[in-house]
Amino acid sequence: MHPVLERKMSDSDWGLLADAVHSNDMVAGYTHDFYKYPARFSPVFANRVIRFFTEPGDLVVDPFMGGATTLVEARVIGRRCIGADINKLSTFLARAKAAIIVRKDLDAVLEWALNLRDRLNLRHPPIRAEDWIKEGYQRNISCRSTWPTRKTLELVLANLHELKNTSQKRFARCALLKTAQWALDCTKVIPSAKVFREKLIENVVKMSKGATEFSRAAKASDKLYDARGGFRIRCLNRSAIGLENEPIFNKTPAPKLILTSPPYPGVHVLYHRWQVKGRKETPAPFWIANSIDGNGEAFYTFGHRKRKTNKQYYEVLLQAYKSLAKIADKNTIMVQMVGFSNPASQLPAYLETMDKAGFKEDKFLSISNMPDGRLWRIVPNRKWYATHKGSIGSSKEVVLFHTLDR
Ligand SMILES: C[S@@+](CC[C@H](N)C(=O)[O-])C[C@H]1O[C@@H](n2cnc3c(N)ncnc32)[C@H](O)[C@@H]1O
Repeated sequence: MHPVLERKMSDSDWGLLADAVHSNDMVAGYTHDFYKYPARFSPVFANRVIRFFTEPGDLVVDPFMGGATTLVEARVIGRRCIGADINKLSTFLARAKAAIIVRKDLDAVLEWALNLRDRLNLRHPPIRAEDWIKEGYQRNISCRSTWPTRKTLELVLANLHELKNTSQKRFARCALLKTAQWALDCTKVIPSAKVFREKLIENVVKMSKGATEFSRAAKASDKLYDARGGFRIRCLNRSAIGLENEPIFNKTPAPKLILTSPPYPGVHVLYHRWQVKGRKETPAPFWIANSIDGNGEAFYTFGHRKRKTNKQYYEVLLQAYKSLAKIADKNTIMVQMVGFSNPASQLPAYLETMDKAGFKEDKFLSISNMPDGRLWRIVPNRKWYATHKGSIGSSKEVVLFHTLDR
């Protein structure tokens, strides 16, 4: 075993980590339920990995941050964290979920949403989002059952200027995003405009509680280390490839932990679209988040899923992990949760790529639950009508531990 890993973990720590991997608890607490990001970590897993492998003030990096689970958990226990993702929706969410927001701003958004209710009547003239429509961001949300939701979204967004600052606007967009995902993504029956309006208020109230809880914990954890002249959280909208060129990595010691979950080979996941009624795809989340998409599924998943081989997947993976090797040092531990549709062929190719990038695997027999000495979990196939939005195809997920091979 690598000496860094040997030093850090007691038997009971390993037990707790294994429990967290199998945890089926709903993703909840703090700002975690602001959005159902596909294939997101369990916060319990992220929290335990960060606690076990780092100390307050240490740097944690998540180069595929997705819904920002790592950033939120790192922030509340006083670790610095840099997250990156190629998806602008992810950066939007990370900025909304991992930032401290004051009570006054949360109250202002609730008051605004309550006052807005009467102005959202569908008999009011429409305020069309022409620029977004031209670019196709309202695709598949204007049929008989979906247009009331679309029109309500347009009316709410047209009144966003009444909010006073970026924090309030971002929080309001996030509440709208959560409500619209609930209404449109993989639902069998699209709710009426009235039900949508009530849900929006309910979400603002719920999210305010989560944001308050997060902000309190984050502020309390500020005392754990001195961040003067440095930073606590950074969100980068960029590819993991070339990450070493970000100036921030010249100004900070190497990360103690890289905790991440890259796109899964051969597993169908839509990070950038909602599936209206479980079928037709819409890029509407980008419109609501005021972010640009403009890319197909392959952009977010290391290549085309439907190709016969995963060659492109491993090429992109290699480039990305070569970059991670450049920001790491001999004390950096990399913990990954990776899913495979066909582990027998995909895992060896995955590990070979890690090896080529300069990482060596460590296995822990004390927590393994398979003859290969690793810790696995089975992810059931969650159909489009299941209550777990952001569903992913059936896969087996494994926890991998690596350190630099030098
Ligand atoms: C499995 S998800 C991460 C989920 C995350 N662990 C969470 O808790 O929400 C993988 C992420 O990788 C991102 N991604 C894909 N290609 C990337 C690249 N080249 N660089 C950075 N991020 C990328 C996707 O946009 C997606 O958000």
